[in-house]
Amino acid sequence: MLPTAHVRLARPAAHGGHRILRRGYSFTDGTDGLGRLDAGLFFLAYQRDPRTGFIPVQRELARHDALNEYIQHVGSALFAIPPGVRDAHDWWGRALFTAPAKD
Ligand code: HEM
Repeated sequence: MLPTAHVRLARPAAHGGHRILRRGYSFTDGTDGLGRLDAGLFFLAYQRDPRTGFIPVQRELARHDALNEYIQHVGSALFAIPPGVRDAHDWWGRALFTAPAKD
């Protein structure tokens, strides 16, 4: 496999074991005004902390990935996703807004 292959660089063993849960949505929207294919990938990654998930993986890919020649970054967004409500005493977002208990 090429040393700069996307899958080779993206795997956890290549960058200190950082892990993300991925969900990709490929899209093809016909052609743009110049007849070029308007297609791409909506890339979603889930993790507890982007500083130890997406960011180090993306840095590695940005530096060396051979795929970069064929793709163009269009936009990014970061969302905080609270966990689900566990029971009648829980409420949505509690874990985000409650200070952790002191020892
Ligand atoms: C246009 C953009 C991209 C394309 C076309 C693409 C394509 C692929 C393909 C075909 C695979 C192998 C099949 C699979 O496991 O799904 C893969 C794996 C992977 N990609 Fe991407 N990818 C893109 C962007 C990204 C980005 C932005 C990241 C993270 C920053 C990423 C991280 C990964 C990871 C972690 C794997 C699995 C590596 C492993 O086997 O452990 N990819 N990608």
